[in-house]
Parts: sequence; C-alpha cells; structure tokens
Amino acid sequence: MARVVLGVTGGIAAFKSVTLLRLLTKAGHDVRVVPTQSALRMVGAPTFQALSRNPVHTSVFDDVTTAEHVRLGQTADLVVVAPATADLLARARSGRADDLLTATLLVATCPVVFAPAMHTEMWQHPATRENVSVLRERGVHIIEPDSGALAGDDTGPGRLPEPEAIFAALKPHLNADAEPRPGPLRGAQFVVSAGGTREAIDPVRFLGNRSSGRQGIAIARAAAAAGAHVTLVAANVEDALLAGLRGVDIENVSTAAELETAMNVHAGSADVLVMAAAVADYRPAAAGEHKLKKNGDEGMVLRLEQTPDILAGLVANRRSGQVIVGFAAETGDEQTAAIEHARAKARRKQADLLVFNEVSATAGFGAVPNAVVILDSDGTDVSAAAGTKDEVGTAVVAEIARRCGEVSSAPEGTH
Ligand code: CTP
Repeated sequence: MARVVLGVTGGIAAFKSVTLLRLLTKAGHDVRVVPTQSALRMVGAPTFQALSRNPVHTSVFDDVTTAEHVRLGQTADLVVVAPATADLLARARSGRADDLLTATLLVATCPVVFAPAMHTEMWQHPATRENVSVLRERGVHIIEPDSGALAGDDTGPGRLPEPEAIFAALKPHLNADAEPRPGPLRGAQFVVSAGGTREAIDPVRFLGNRSSGRQGIAIARAAAAAGAHVTLVAANVEDALLAGLRGVDIENVSTAAELETAMNVHAGSADVLVMAAAVADYRPAAAGEHKLKKNGDEGMVLRLEQTPDILAGLVANRRSGQVIVGFAAETGDEQTAAIEHARAKARRKQADLLVFNEVSATAGFGAVPNAVVILDSDGTDVSAAAGTKDEVGTAVVAEIARRCGEVSSAPEGTH
C-alpha cells in the first residue's frame, strides 16, 4: 500500500480523476485528494471525500494545526496530478506555493507524475513546452496527453488519457519494492513485448507464429537486473516461462490489437520500448462467430486484412529522450543476404536500434541459442552478440543502456 496524493486541477477532464481515485483506492492505496479551487467547480469535495475516505482541503490555511501543507508532501510515496492544467504546470515550474497542491509539490521528494490536459494551442505554446521541459529535467514524470476531442469543438493533442492508462503508468511507482536497484538503467521505465500474437479465425482456431517469447523474457530479466522498472507485455507466452521472472510486471495480451493498445498505453511514460514480439502482419478480416465447417473439395478462402504496424506507430509518436528498439528475424534468399534485408528494415522502421537475427534450423526460435547483430537507424552495425538467450538479452540491454546515456546527455531536439 502506498500513500498517494492525487492533485486535481480545474480542467474539464477533472471528472476522470474520480475514476482514477477509485482505481487507486481499489488497489489498496491510501489516497489524499488535493484539488485546486477551480477543480472544485468541476467535481465537488464530497465526492472526493467519500471515495477517498479522507478529508479534502485546498488551502494551506485549511488545517494549520498539523502543518498539512508540508506533511502531505513529506509523507507521500507518490504525487500524481491529473489533470494538470497549463496553469498548474506554470506554477509548479516557478515554485509557487499559493495553494495546498503547489505547496505539497514543493515539499515532495517522492516521484511526481503529471498528466497534463488542455487545449492544443496551450499544450503547444512555447511557454508550456518550456515548463514541461524544465519539469522533466527536474525529474517530474509527464504522461503525454492523448490526441482527440477536447472541450468545445476542437480536436488535437491535449486530451487527458483514460484513467486506466494513467493508472497503468503509475504502477511502477506504486510497487512496495519500488526502490530502484542500482545499475545502468536505474529507475528507467522499460517496456518489452514478447511472444507471438494470435488472430482468431473462429472460436477454436487462430493464425499464430512460432515465437516462444524467450528472447523478450531474457531482455526483461536483463533490464530488471540493470535496475529498470520492467513491464513485460506477453503475447501467448507459456506460464512456465514466465514463472521464474522476478521484479517484472507482466501483462498478458493475445491479439495484435491488444498488444498495440498495451504498448500505446505505456508509450506515454516509458523511457525504453522494445518490440520483441512477433506480431501477425495479417488477421482474418472477420473472425467467424461459429466454428467453421469443412467445405469438401471446394477448399476455403480466408480473407485477411493487415494489422497495424505497432513499432511504426511507437516511432511516429516517440517522445524526446525515449529509446525504441525493434527486432527483425530474417531469412536470406537467392538475391539478398538476410542481414541486407535487416539493414533495409532498420532504415525503413527508424527505431533507435534494430536487433537482427537470422532464422535458420539452428538459431532463432525456441530454446536454441541465438546470434544477433544490433543495427542503428541507418542500418549500420552497432554491435553483435551470440550465445544463450540470456547472454544475448544482456548484450542487447547493455546497448540500450548506452543509447539511453547518449540520448539523456544530448541537447534537446537532437534526438
Ligand atoms: N512489428 C510490429 N507490428 C507489426 C509487425 C511487426 O510492431 N504489425 C514489429 C516487430 O515486433 C519487430 C519489427 O516490427 O520489432 C519487425 O517485424 P517484422 O515482422 O520483421 O517486420 P515487418 O514490418 O512485418 O516486415 P516484413 O515485410 O519483413 O514482414
């Protein structure tokens, strides 16, 4: 159980904070809601009080006997502000303490997460961009707003993500043993997909692939050992393979669509995203509601439609400082060696790193050793590794840690 301060500011999305509050209390956390005065024009204090079972104050003068304006921040394990308006970002950036929420933010030494929500113009204004960038430099975690319908007629970036997505992004900060382990990825939020997706043909059959998930699991294990907070998004991975994983949050998914949703939810807060899962490129255009019957000599035609390219979506929305890694399992053909296919893919996909392995009878799938070449977005060799999947996983994570170091020391805008 963690002590959570939930700050709520006066955006139209304040109503979503009620669901977030429920998710936090249902998970057993002790939540103190600290709304701003404007937030109380959107949601009433009794709602927050009843759902949190804690008093709700807005001003530093509300409970002077207990010096609440310092105590809340000092004793919190996590402070999250959702929604965070442009005004709150500006006040937090300049260190104001003119209400209980900003005073709490000034005292807090625990992780602080902001989920900004505002009109697109406000979000894109240089003042807000600068406030976000300064807050990030100070270690505040920012959950990127979604793009979508906003208050009024406009649409665009600035929409508060759904409470479930915010809750998922808070999870790494809510673990009882959340104290990051020392290591090159200390405290980094690391999300890796593993396994292979399954696309339903009918209630009993699916289109799948031979990926076991072992390489992705080895990467998750190596990242946890390097000090990262790791989430493994596991697509149809055998329970036995997951059983030995320690210190890793596991989310099970099955289809490409579910995997895409899970990765996009994490993309707002992850420092590293690794797409090691084998994603179906095509799925049945319409899964049969009933078990398909044999069709005799006529045969059967299954119409397939393309699935979304999840990696491409992550790259297109990459946040500054985020490191994205793809995989490419290739075979050579008469004209082109496997590695040349991988170099072309690296240039096409524009992930920071692409981990290439040649699929053959002796390397690639299952419990066999692996050999990889890590390429950059130009298709140039960065390094190579061979051995067990754990050895390869450790080498891949070492390369990611190096890349994270370069990215975090690069000036804004060069990534
Ligand atoms: N990938 C993805 N979404 C898809 C397909 C692939 O995110 N629908 C990711 C994989 O997880 C992997 C990378 O993209 O990290 C390369 O996968 P691969 O299947 O080799 O790439 P494709 O784009 O499908 O290329 P190809 O034309 O060779 O099938």
